[in-house]
Amino acid sequence: MTQVTALVSGKGGTGKTTLCAAIASCMAAEGKRVLCVDLDAPLRNLDLALGMSVEPVPSYTEAFTGSLSLEDIPEHPGVPGLYLLSAPARLTEEATDTESMKTFLTKARECFDDIFLDGPAGLGPIFEMCTSLADRTLLISAGDPGSMRDAGQTAREIALAGCDEAYLILNRVQRGYFRRAGITVDDVMDQVGLRLLGLVPEDSLVPLASAKNTALVLYERRGAAPACLRIARRLNGRRIPLAIS
Ligand SMILES: Nc1ncnc2c1ncn2[C@@H]1O[C@H](COP(=O)(O)OP(=O)(O)OP(=O)(O)O)[C@@H](O)[C@H]1O
Ligand SMILES: [Mg+2]
Repeated sequence: MTQVTALVSGKGGTGKTTLCAAIASCMAAEGKRVLCVDLDAPLRNLDLALGMSVEPVPSYTEAFTGSLSLEDIPEHPGVPGLYLLSAPARLTEEATDTESMKTFLTKARECFDDIFLDGPAGLGPIFEMCTSLADRTLLISAGDPGSMRDAGQTAREIALAGCDEAYLILNRVQRGYFRRAGITVDDVMDQVGLRLLGLVPEDSLVPLASAKNTALVLYERRGAAPACLRIARRLNGRRIPLAIS
């Protein structure tokens, strides 16, 4: 059954777009047919994180009006089975129309195995659209105490919006941080109130891959990319132990 997965955060710049691109690429590499939808209008940049900024990518509102069919959604040039719809250049009323998105997702579920929604930072109409329509939500946060407190607040908003299946991912984790701070996986989950799905390390190749217009998983074999592969496999139901460093 197709899973619609939304990526959200309390604070901005936590890595939603980076991880959306990387986890979706890994899902496609695992043999799934995957659609990514950039919902961050007008601050879209999922095309950059995927390495698809050169080719023209239509926006999801074009699919609402019927001017774009599912067969016309562009496929990634280097990752077979990975498709992208961009966000419109302006945050219009149409762009936040939950009913149109719901209708679109119902059709898209027939064509794709996984659909990833890259949300904007913070709360608001698109956050509500994402969390009310997704089957599961990934809350992306940094690992410091202030970020985790914000993540706890956002986790409560996710539950209020009606998404019952939500997970926490900690991004940009410095090697040895949790060990030195004496924090365990259980402490993290207790504080935020969500199951921890994965830890992604700070990795200087992340912005480099984007600058070279290359999907992260095609660019590196260490650091953030394999961490995202483990997250994709956990989302697919595989049991892979969490290692907190
Ligand atoms: N694991 C990582 N290691 C190093 N840099 C990272 C990592 N994850 C993300 N970044 C960098 O952090 C910045 C913000 O990432 P990204 O755009 O994915 O965040 P975002 O949550 O989507 O931001 P926004 O809230 O603006 O949508 C980017 O420059 C990205 O390259
Ligand atoms: Mg983003």
